[in-house]
Amino acid sequence: MKTTADFKKMKQEKEPIVMVTAYDAPSAILAEKAGVDTILVGDSLGMVVLGYDSTLPVTVDDMVHHTKAVKRGAKDTFIITDLPFLSYHASIEETFSSARRLMQDAQAHAVKMEGNGPVFEKAEKLIQAGVPVVCHLGLTPQMVGVLGGYKVQGKKQGEAEQLLKDAKRTEEIGASMLVLECVPEGLVKEITASLTIPVIGIGAGRYTDGQVLVFHDVVGYHSGHVPKFVKQYASIKDTIYASLTDYTTEVKALDFPEKKHVFQPVDEEAISLYG
Ligand code: KIV
Ligand code: NA
Repeated sequence: MKTTADFKKMKQEKEPIVMVTAYDAPSAILAEKAGVDTILVGDSLGMVVLGYDSTLPVTVDDMVHHTKAVKRGAKDTFIITDLPFLSYHASIEETFSSARRLMQDAQAHAVKMEGNGPVFEKAEKLIQAGVPVVCHLGLTPQMVGVLGGYKVQGKKQGEAEQLLKDAKRTEEIGASMLVLECVPEGLVKEITASLTIPVIGIGAGRYTDGQVLVFHDVVGYHSGHVPKFVKQYASIKDTIYASLTDYTTEVKALDFPEKKHVFQPVDEEAISLYG
């Protein structure tokens, strides 16, 4: 299993870091087998698998439940889990109790936190206690209500300067990695060059130390809007839909099950089933 030290070394050696999200055991098994470097149990699971229209309803319990499933699937991969909306803001005690759930109950290897300012103070305390923290800047979807939508961040001069300052701060507090979401490529290039910790991008262009995408976007298990920054490598939803349609048609037509699917008394397997 790769560690935070390996990710830093990969940056130094210019070996791109591959991150993908996963939310359950079968997808985690395949991600590990495909050779991804690290898996993110993102709170995007709220939208992607739980059917919410934002990440705001996602709870620490949800993150624990899905992280445990991913851990069972990918036993040899570095697992990062998102601290969800409002689970790390009110007090340092609450931040620690949320992180404890993810690190001890679910056995994540690191937690990810969106935001700057007061979030950096919480992150620094966690890091001092031994919790590896991944910071997330740029478009931070837990702020959707305040931002008024999902928009590219850091386009204006002032915003860009703040983002560069914040990015440098993540390294100073000891963050293991920085995720940048929906930020113009030139600014990301500058940030990546000015940090020794790996910068992982999503909608952040070609000059990061690595990329992250949402599992369902990569495989095309998605019926909604596909953002510009996504590349769908398959359209698995079409395969799933066709399979379910065929199954439905065949059961209605009495074409399934066929003889080969049926147990008979002389069937060896059936005899052993009955003891
Ligand atoms: O929740 C998530 O999937 C994320 C990634 C998009 C970075 O935070
Ligand atoms: Na997230």
